[in-house]
Amino acid sequence: MAQVDQTLKDRKILLIVGGGIAAYKALDLIRRLRERGGQVRVVLTAAGRAFVTPLSLASLSGQPVHEDLFSLTDETEMGHIELSRSADLIVVAPATADLMAKAANGLANDLASTLLLATDKKVLMAPAMNVRMWLHPATRRNAARLMADGILFTGPADGDMACGEFGPGRMSEPLEIVAAMTQALSGDTRLPLNGDVAVPACLLKGRRIVITSGPTHEPIDPVRYIANRSSGRQGHAIAQAAARAGAHVVLISGPVSIPDPVGVEMRRVETARDMLSAVEAALPADVFIGAAAVADWRVEGTSDSKIKKTPAGSPSLKLAENPDILAQVSTRSSGRPQLVVGFAAETNDLLEHARAKLTRKGCDLIIANDVGAGSNVMGGTHNKVHLVSRTGVDSWPLLDKDEVASRLIMRCAELLAGSEPE
Ligand code: C5P
Repeated sequence: MAQVDQTLKDRKILLIVGGGIAAYKALDLIRRLRERGGQVRVVLTAAGRAFVTPLSLASLSGQPVHEDLFSLTDETEMGHIELSRSADLIVVAPATADLMAKAANGLANDLASTLLLATDKKVLMAPAMNVRMWLHPATRRNAARLMADGILFTGPADGDMACGEFGPGRMSEPLEIVAAMTQALSGDTRLPLNGDVAVPACLLKGRRIVITSGPTHEPIDPVRYIANRSSGRQGHAIAQAAARAGAHVVLISGPVSIPDPVGVEMRRVETARDMLSAVEAALPADVFIGAAAVADWRVEGTSDSKIKKTPAGSPSLKLAENPDILAQVSTRSSGRPQLVVGFAAETNDLLEHARAKLTRKGCDLIIANDVGAGSNVMGGTHNKVHLVSRTGVDSWPLLDKDEVASRLIMRCAELLAGSEPE
């Protein structure tokens, strides 16, 4: 008997069992959850009924199993809205391609999909399906949509499948699902879309992504330079999330003091002009994300030796404009990445400036963030962003930069879905 888990103890779990061979693992999942003190109510889809019986689920959960949207018995006991709201966490295991598609599109034509639409609670999905179905652009699009909507995922894992194929599509093991649930219930704000639990490892497989990050340093003389407060945290987090999603990532970074993300190809540069050359050398790519805080100006006629104080007074610096890397990538006549994403750090009139930047620079998406005094965004760990595109604005809440990164990668996957890799 497993130890009672303080995070799961007395928590109300609504488990939706979809129709797939992995449904048998739902039985073990219920057992594991109850051992840890969790209370499990089960909703079984019509397809799920073909794989496991309501009797087994009811016996293991110790509660009646719900199957019908229009069940008079259930409605008198507990309406479907109440069923979804009274839970602390909703878990879909197995989450079939069909259930994911319904939830991604807001369909509500049976009990399971209605509950997913009616809930105000966190939802964790454990997908299970044939490899081809998981890799199909429609499912990738749906997964990206669900992740962008804040749905959590665990798995699927690579492995031998019941249908005789090998690859991603195997449902996470019950104890892995329990671990993901514990994380979700512990209120870790970084969990949504973060870490191995959330980002499917093959979401951006075969895609090449070039990302700029950090500040640039523009020399004045051999010992001095002009810089800005960018830490590189946001750009590096995006690179990490993209690598985790299976993309080939080239990260071109100005001088930063944070560690390199794992599994990315690093290019270290100092000035804006170096950064531009590195970007051009790294293209073509499917996606370009310009997260660097590139200095707008450099010092013209830098001194080869340290500028000394003289009685004649302070030296004056003449500035020259740096190339706009984002605009150059966006307006390439050939080899323009399918998706070009820029950032707009503003201290006032955020959305107005972001929209103007979208047009002026010709990119597809601008991530606008307020870096005004007191925002603590530059150099900080959190970010509140608005995604400005030609079709509108999507505002996200204050999030950990890792989560912003993961969500952005999901959004990119969604925008790329269906297109051929570069
Ligand atoms: O014009 P502004 O600097 O506010 O634009 C910010 C966006 O443009 C960021 O995505 C940044 O990486 C990019 N940028 C650039 N080259 C510049 C200036 C900004 O790529 N010289």
